Amino acid sequence: MKQFKDRIGIFDSGIGGFSILHRIIKKVPSVTIDYISDDAFSPYGEKSDTEIIKRSQIITEMLLQRGCSLIVVACNSATAAAIKALREKYRDTPFVGVEPYINILNHQDHSSEIRKAAVITTELTGRSEKFKILKQRIDPSGSILHVSMPGLAAIVEIILEKGLSENLMEDLRKELKPLKILNLSHLILGCTHYPLIADLIEKELGVITVSPGPHVANRVFDLVSPSGKEYCSSFSYLSTGSMKWEQRTSEYLFSLLKHSAVKEGS
Ligand code: DGL
Repeated sequence: MKQFKDRIGIFDSGIGGFSILHRIIKKVPSVTIDYISDDAFSPYGEKSDTEIIKRSQIITEMLLQRGCSLIVVACNSATAAAIKALREKYRDTPFVGVEPYINILNHQDHSSEIRKAAVITTELTGRSEKFKILKQRIDPSGSILHVSMPGLAAIVEIILEKGLSENLMEDLRKELKPLKILNLSHLILGCTHYPLIADLIEKELGVITVSPGPHVANRVFDLVSPSGKEYCSSFSYLSTGSMKWEQRTSEYLFSLLKHSAVKEGS
């Protein structure tokens, strides 16, 4: 394994990985970050494992060519389908993936006791072996329900791109309807797009949402050697739709979080 990792590559099918990126920027400010949004191939959650493995390798190559020495797969679907193949192919490069934080069962704080919980994912993540094994290991009694949400990631993309309108809120309500009747206390967000509208989900369903971002950022923090820089004020961004690298500021990123449940300073 390489020792010095101050250039991190992050990717997702779209802007979902921003829910991980902002946590990394806050926790590990001394790194240089390249973010790839694979819009040209989204959504990942409806593709086959073979397609996602191939696509994840193409994106990884692009990030390695930029000089990244640590790759964050900021997507539950790509982690479920491809992280094993990536680790086997690029043995010198550490990969950090994202999984639904079912571990909440073991780390409950008293202020939010679980009455009834569910985990929501894309279809790909939900049918993956990786997810089934994780769920069976942490929740062998099956106390946490699982629901696949075919259209939710796409709704999140549109809300963030166009702003929240009454029509979009209606689409969101329809998509969340099967969850509403479950009368949940907690909802584990198993797709990185979902935390970007956690606030809206919490209000609509009256639940507490659980996101993996802070745990992923802690893992990255453990792997990165400090470089002495103090604040990561911008990051490089490429959409595979346009194939042009641009510089984006952290302020821009944080301004996109207004529907997330991220509180000031957290
Ligand atoms: N953000 C991705 C995830 O975490 C998936 C969204 C998509 O279907 O493209 O699974």
